Amino acid sequence: MSTDADFEIYVVTAPGLESVLCAETQAKGFREPTPGKGGVTLKGGWPEVWRANLELRGATRVLARVAAFRAFHLAQLDKRARRVPWAEILRPDVPVRVEASCKGSRIYHAGAAAQRIERAIREELGAPVSDEAAVVIKARIDDDLCTISIDTSGESLHKRGHKEAVNKAPMRETLASLFLRQCGFDGREPVVDPMCGSGTFVIEAAEIAAGLNPGRSRSFAFEQLASFDAAAWQRLRGTGDGVTPTVRFHGSDRDAGAVSMSRANAERAGVAGFTEFRQHAISDLTAPEGPPGLVIVNPPYGGRIGDTKQLYPLYHALGQTLLGGFSGWRVGLVTNEASLAKATGLPFAPPGAPVSHGGIRVTLHQTGPLP
Ligand SMILES: C[S@@+](CC[C@H](N)C(=O)[O-])C[C@H]1O[C@@H](n2cnc3c(N)ncnc32)[C@H](O)[C@@H]1O
Repeated sequence: MSTDADFEIYVVTAPGLESVLCAETQAKGFREPTPGKGGVTLKGGWPEVWRANLELRGATRVLARVAAFRAFHLAQLDKRARRVPWAEILRPDVPVRVEASCKGSRIYHAGAAAQRIERAIREELGAPVSDEAAVVIKARIDDDLCTISIDTSGESLHKRGHKEAVNKAPMRETLASLFLRQCGFDGREPVVDPMCGSGTFVIEAAEIAAGLNPGRSRSFAFEQLASFDAAAWQRLRGTGDGVTPTVRFHGSDRDAGAVSMSRANAERAGVAGFTEFRQHAISDLTAPEGPPGLVIVNPPYGGRIGDTKQLYPLYHALGQTLLGGFSGWRVGLVTNEASLAKATGLPFAPPGAPVSHGGIRVTLHQTGPLP
């Protein structure tokens, strides 16, 4: 593989949101996006890899597929792994680590497979192998086909690099952005989250409206690869430096700690100028002045049956407040129990597929403009 040639780029996302991420990749001009299980495949070279990490809000990580070959036994894996042009991809001075998985293959011992590939890299390229390495190579052996990918992101991309403070059960930024997209949010309407926690929906919405790239403040594993071009990256990173939104983004929560956390997070993200956070309970919520927009909220989740029942009054109160005071606004509600969504009394359309979020399966329920 030449570093100038196109290869497959696999953008990982939360299962259930592949088609929404696919729409985002299309809107951002990536080539040949195809949704798959747990992600979207694109075509491109290293500049597209950098751009995917920088711009895609819904991506959890970006993998560059650098090699694929058949391997029926470990000696063959060893031999073929040595033929990968590692020097074009990795740096001999940067430690690496290999993670392997095997499925339906004659090679069934993932640990042994990882060791062979690590040894091939160490002996062919000279790169040290370390458990703490920031550069991770993922080898997937499926039906005797070994696919080798480099994790070009490093830390999960939901870590935008602005949030120090998190409340309990925060929504991941990646998911929040895809739920906003599913609700048809394009940055030109106001957003209200009346149970904002650490402010994730409000800050994501404000960043989208301001045209800020999600990866503008953080570092990535691809900076440690042989293919990295620091000057080209600086030029790319300098783009997308925003516009001033014409609308405001509002968060509230009954918890004072959540509100101050949201303010601090918005400040660090550079969106404090067009976000507003206030401390009050749902019962004191009123629609902001100006045109209607989108209410997006994830209220506390239900757990065991008794806990879920205790939440009915809260969901009911949320529904009543929105029906009473948010005429013309659309609602997006993320929760793990259909009965809780129903308790709001809001006119939700049939929901889409559930999405796995840190072990909880959550579903986005949406209304059209409220009467
Ligand atoms: C699941 S968390 C929301 C997490 C948030 N989306 C984030 O990303 O951090 C639910 C939030 O609802 C708030 N809450 C619970 N009851 C409330 C009420 N009656 N009025 C306003 N906020 C409430 C809690 O304080 C908590 O922050």
